[in-house]
Amino acid sequence: MIEVKDLQKTYTGKVPVHALKGVSFDIPSGQFVALMGPSGSGKSTLLHQLALLDTPTSGGILLDGVDILSLSQHAATDFRLRHMGYVFQEYALIPELNAIENAFLPLMLLGIHRKEYIRIAGDLMDKVGLSDRLHHLISELSGGEQQRVAIARALVNKSKILFADEPCANLDTENKGIVLRLLRKLCNELGQTILMVTHEPEQREFADRVLWLRDGRLEKEEYISKDTQEEALHNGYRTDISSDPDYLKDD
Ligand SMILES: Nc1ncnc2c1ncn2[C@@H]1O[C@H](COP(=O)(O)OP(=O)(O)OP(=O)(O)O)[C@@H](O)[C@H]1O
Ligand SMILES: [Mg+2]
Repeated sequence: MIEVKDLQKTYTGKVPVHALKGVSFDIPSGQFVALMGPSGSGKSTLLHQLALLDTPTSGGILLDGVDILSLSQHAATDFRLRHMGYVFQEYALIPELNAIENAFLPLMLLGIHRKEYIRIAGDLMDKVGLSDRLHHLISELSGGEQQRVAIARALVNKSKILFADEPCANLDTENKGIVLRLLRKLCNELGQTILMVTHEPEQREFADRVLWLRDGRLEKEEYISKDTQEEALHNGYRTDISSDPDYLKDD
């Protein structure tokens, strides 16, 4: 459960920027929410505040009933490692580590046994189609491959909450489909609560609900019907449909 109350964020600089101007919403546990809105509307700023990567100017945030803004730095780090996954818009991978090391890092920091974290990270790298890139350095990976490592890293701790900032921005159609189906499955099967930023209207159909930000305020929301969601899950971003021989047959 994510509860956000009157969240405001003003970046102080030579020219102050009011990036969030009083945003309030609740997301029940296990809901997959797409966050949309024009560039500069405050989407990344909102995710940063929710994930304890920055401090809001005012307002309240409860994650699973925990008032995260009152946590000490140590408790905040621990909460983030255990209960959150985060896909950064700019990936934020560690260049000195290879792909699989980046992916298993959160589990290593949690003190999980090496054999176990290699197994979990390896399985996720396989799911995102990178099982043949495990030992590549980050600089040796394409943009889309780096993005998929960042996704694997955000999923390894099977956290209750996942924040994903345009996780498909650099992916081709096939990989967009793979990632969106994976997120939908994690939501359905693990009950993960997901807040995903996207610019593509087609991607929101994988979610349960859409929040639209404009100029630092919530502008509107939309609920996605189960039928639309099923349709997206089965046909959205499918590249195998046109190559299916049955599809080409005249009846
Ligand atoms: N560190 C910062 N200092 C000052 N202003 C900032 C900072 N980060 C963001 N902003 C400003 O805050 C506003 C919201 O930025 P934010 O990155 O949240 O937008 P966004 O909705 O994620 O956009 P995009 O779709 O381009 O990623 C913008 O006007 C931006 O210029
Ligand atoms: Mg952004």
